[in-house]
Amino acid sequence: MKTIRDNLVTKFEHLLVVKRKTMDDRQSPATRLAGDAPVGNGLLPRHVVIAMDGNGRWAQRRNQIRTAGHRAGAGVARDIILAARQIGIEVLTLYAFSMENWGRDPREVSIILEELLPKALSDHANEFNQLGIRIEILGEKKMLSERTQHVIEEVMSATRENTGLIVNVAVSYSGRLEILNAVRRVIGALEQEQIALTDLDEALFARFLDSGHLPFPDLYIRCGGVNRISNFMLWQMAYTEIVPLDILWPDFRPEHLYHAIRTYQRQPRKFGLVPDHP
Ligand code: FPP
Repeated sequence: MKTIRDNLVTKFEHLLVVKRKTMDDRQSPATRLAGDAPVGNGLLPRHVVIAMDGNGRWAQRRNQIRTAGHRAGAGVARDIILAARQIGIEVLTLYAFSMENWGRDPREVSIILEELLPKALSDHANEFNQLGIRIEILGEKKMLSERTQHVIEEVMSATRENTGLIVNVAVSYSGRLEILNAVRRVIGALEQEQIALTDLDEALFARFLDSGHLPFPDLYIRCGGVNRISNFMLWQMAYTEIVPLDILWPDFRPEHLYHAIRTYQRQPRKFGLVPDHP
């Protein structure tokens, strides 16, 4: 039987950007095994995040301009997406461009957002579609140019019905802003009496996030040799396992993904509890 809260959730569900079944137990580990994949036989992370960091340094080490690193980095994404799909990851988030990145040289910003991102999306749209991969974009899309928004819309709508791997590309993204936007939606829902203040708890709040339909990240692969969160999914990453890798993104290969997953599989997830306590 539906509870009052379920009814309330149904009432405001239309506010969420993507209308798909929300997952209640967002931080539970996956139950599927990796099979014969090149990762361990332990539980797979359902949602893997990778920060595509280190493009600039990769280029500088080769005496090339920074955008050469972004170009090389854009070429790496496809192989990692296919590897994630092959081992059965449910959601792969690629953190491509933060809100703070807007402060970079406009020429660098333009090459990333006007050239490389739309090209990477449109070049592989058909292939991803055939493989059942769904492309989503998380972030302030309205800050992007009309042309880039158009490419994004086309790829998202072409892959919307796909039920395989979700590739969630974070662009013009800020974790703090995602929380603030959720607060604004909550206030709207309260004002319109779609929810009551007494119903508001952590689970309900999380549904108002732009990424509220996704499971929380289980594994955050921080490549580029830094250990920062960098304003990413601040609400959702409360219990995410972070695996920093001293690999610059253009050098990132499927083996690094498998290695990070094996590291994840060795770390017992406690969620603040004491293991084996009844
Ligand atoms: C971070 O490296 C990378 C970026 C800010 C841009 C990444 C985006 C792309 C490669 C565009 C294509 C996107 C997809 C999803 C295919 P950095 O410049 O901060 O490196 P640094 O730390 O060495 O300076």
